[in-house]
Amino acid sequence: MNEPRRVEHQQTDKGYVPVYTTDVVEQPWASYTATDHDVWRQLYERQREILVGRASDEFLIAQDAMGMTPDAIPKFTELNTVLRAATGWEVIGVEGLLPELTFFDHLANRRFPVTWWIRTPGQLDYLAEPDLFHDLFGHVPLLMNPLFGDYMAAYGRGGVKAHGIGPEALVNLTRLYWYTVEFGLIKQKDGLRIYGSGIVSSKGESIHCLESPAPNRIGFDLERIMRTRYRIDTYQKTYFVIDSFAQLIEATEPDFTPIYARLATQDSFPAGTVLDGDQVFHRGSGAGWLNDGDI
Ligand code: PHE
Ligand code: FE
Repeated sequence: MNEPRRVEHQQTDKGYVPVYTTDVVEQPWASYTATDHDVWRQLYERQREILVGRASDEFLIAQDAMGMTPDAIPKFTELNTVLRAATGWEVIGVEGLLPELTFFDHLANRRFPVTWWIRTPGQLDYLAEPDLFHDLFGHVPLLMNPLFGDYMAAYGRGGVKAHGIGPEALVNLTRLYWYTVEFGLIKQKDGLRIYGSGIVSSKGESIHCLESPAPNRIGFDLERIMRTRYRIDTYQKTYFVIDSFAQLIEATEPDFTPIYARLATQDSFPAGTVLDGDQVFHRGSGAGWLNDGDI
C-alpha cells in the first residue's frame, strides 16, 4: 500500500491528530497488498458474524445490497455505481480526517469521504483515527437507505450553517453526529440494535453496547444529546436510542439556530450522566428491552 500523506499534527478537541491534505484522491487500488486485503477480510468476517442479530436490519440489508464482500477491498468506482443509483450518494477517496467545513460541504453534496488506506494486522481491535474499514464498512452501507441518506445530507447542510454561527454551535452539532451517526442504537421490534458506524466497525463495542450492564441507553432527545459530552478514549458511557430513521429526520428538521442560542447559556453534562426525565432502557427478562414507559 502507498503511504498516506500526513501534512502535520494538530491539537484539537479530538486530541493530537494528524492533519491530512484535503484533496480528493483516487483510490490507489492496485497498491493494496495481499496483507491489506487480508486485513479487510478478517475484519469483515469477524464483524459480520457479530452483527447479524445485533446491527439494525437496515444496516445488514444495505450492506448486502451494496455488493461488499470479504473477498477483497472493494473498488470505490464499483460501489459508486450501485450507490448513485440507489440514493445519489457517492464515495470519494481522502487521506484521512478533513477540516469540518470541507467535510460538511461534501456531505451536503452527497459525497462521503472514505479514507483510502487500511490499518495494519496489529491494529485489528483499535485504531485512534478512521481508516478504510471504519469508513467503508461502518458508514457507507446505510447511505443506501433513502431515509438515512437524507439525514446525512441534511447534517452536511446543517454543518455548513453551524460553522457560520460559531464554535459553540459546532460543538452541539458534533455531539449529535457522535451520538447518532457514530454511536447510535435503534429500537427494533425484537429489541435494541446498532446503527452507529463507530460501533459496527468495533468488535468490542458491538458487544459492549448491547450486552454490558455498564452503559446507559437513553431515548433520543435532541437537546439532551447536544448537551452531552462524549469520550473518545473508552467505550461510550451512554448510547441514545432512536425509534426509527423517520424519527431522527423529524426531530432534526427544525431550524437549530434558536436551539444553539438557548444551549449557549446552559451547562453540558459528563458522558455518563442520567437525568430525571431520561427515558432509560433496561434489559427485560426475555430477549426484549423495556423502558420506563413500558413498566
Ligand atoms: N435542521 C438543522 C439546522 O437547522 C440541520 C440538520 C439536519 C442538522 C439534520 C443535523 C441533522 O441546523
Ligand atoms: Fe466515523
